[in-house]
Amino acid sequence: MTVYTLNLRVFWPLVTCLCTALVFFYQAVRSRAGEDGAPLLKGSALLLLLGFLLLRYCAAPSPSGGGQRPRAPPRPAARRSLLESFYERQLRLSPHVLGHSKAHVSRIVGELVRAAKAQGLQPGPLALSLRGDFVQIGSAYERHKVRSPDCFDILVPLRLPPRLELEPGCLGAAEPGVAPELRSAFVCALKAPQGAAWARGYRPFSEGFCVELRGRRCLSSALVLRWFQGHLQRCLGAVRYRLQERCRIGLAVCPGRQLTLHILPRSDYVCCHLSMAVRLIPALPLGDSLYLVALQPGAGKAQPGTLQALWGLNVSKHEQRLLSWLQDQAPADSCHLKCLQILKGLRDLRGRGLEQPFGAQWSRVLSSYILKTALFSLLLRRPWHAWAEPFLAERLEDLVLHLRDCLQKRVLMHFFLGNGSIPEAVALPKLLREAAPVNLLAAFDAPTLDLAAFQLLHTWNQAPRLIRMYSNPRDARKSPVPCKHITDASQEPPGN
Ligand SMILES: *[C@@H]1O[C@H](CO)[C@@H](O)[C@H](O)[C@H]1NC(C)=O
Ligand SMILES: *[C@@H]1O[C@H](CO)[C@@H](O)[C@H](O)[C@H]1NC(C)=O
Repeated sequence: MTVYTLNLRVFWPLVTCLCTALVFFYQAVRSRAGEDGAPLLKGSALLLLLGFLLLRYCAAPSPSGGGQRPRAPPRPAARRSLLESFYERQLRLSPHVLGHSKAHVSRIVGELVRAAKAQGLQPGPLALSLRGDFVQIGSAYERHKVRSPDCFDILVPLRLPPRLELEPGCLGAAEPGVAPELRSAFVCALKAPQGAAWARGYRPFSEGFCVELRGRRCLSSALVLRWFQGHLQRCLGAVRYRLQERCRIGLAVCPGRQLTLHILPRSDYVCCHLSMAVRLIPALPLGDSLYLVALQPGAGKAQPGTLQALWGLNVSKHEQRLLSWLQDQAPADSCHLKCLQILKGLRDLRGRGLEQPFGAQWSRVLSSYILKTALFSLLLRRPWHAWAEPFLAERLEDLVLHLRDCLQKRVLMHFFLGNGSIPEAVALPKLLREAAPVNLLAAFDAPTLDLAAFQLLHTWNQAPRLIRMYSNPRDARKSPVPCKHITDASQEPPGN
């Protein structure tokens, strides 16, 4: 359904032109008839009308005007249909194309991981290796991805040498000089079995992957990451050769040291020609579907030695469980995922008009993870039927206002860490339940959060204008992130 609104910008000039034409026509008819009774009076009356109309046009709040006058907010029904059409035209993914993309990704990553596991066994039992499986995480697998099924996140679990154990510990407030946002980070001390022979054998591993922290050998996230990137690169050749009929593949390191697999399928079907970027994230399994992943550089301030050894807890598997539990509770036509998708879409539209450096902060403050966390806590507050499809605009407004409040209070707690009241059905491991609570907004300063709160509300109020401004679907595509290519995706395998 489309709602046609009167465009004041076009309407008043049109009326003015029409009146002017009428005046001229009237004058022409009069002069041809040779009359000159009281043309001045009638002419000036018409001119007066014209002036009035012009004035009316100028005084009318222009739709793009800086908002000197608050306009009456559009009715929820009109707003809902606008949001729905924004969703349909620019955000919604075709399940068919998404399905194809996922199938490609899991086939190719599967091959690569198997090859990397096989090669990892050669240097000896005391080296790091791959467990041989992979875990699909992120929005493409949680059904709230927007725009294009071209980016995927995959955890690649690692395996430590046999008999070597990890002793993960939360950094907490104990470490001096650590920024608040890093208090939830982990360090992984290594526990080696006793025995001189073993200790000698363990040296190469320790020298290759560990750093000394507070007198203990700890697994370094930076060294593990570097090994992982080199190792996968070495294995790519073999896999690429085997897959060349099906697709071209290449590896690149993207900003934030992320290893990204680029896949360009060769296929006769148009829908399968989408090129895909798959972030491969090495992960230390802790059991209970919990993983530690290397922290992004710039995650916070700490001494350089400490920073090298930091890991972050990734609970994506539990988020997937919570989401599917929510899906079962909510009505069949629940709009909670659509709300999240539309909010992501509006965030991106607004982000394009923002000046740096706030533009970069905007997407970090309103990261998909933060939006998702805000949605989780809101979802559990309302009766399920309130999330039925017809209430889309109201629920989205709730989400915006809730998020705005969080930004103003500068607190949005991690949903899983240290939350004792998670529904029973989403059984949480002890490590999560007993973890220290984490404020996801701790990394940002007060002026940034205030500005983000203000801009968020502004974005919601101006949503119709923003959507109209960027309604060209070609504009909606994200610009690609520049990557440093290790291996060019277009390079053909040797011997071809
Ligand atoms: C887990 O890792 C994925 C991929 O890097 C990321 O998108 C997600 O935000 C992470 N989750 C947490 C809780 O850090
Ligand atoms: C903890 O979980 C409950 C529901 O299970 C939720 O309402 C609450 O917002 C959560 N707490 C935090 C800090 O997210």
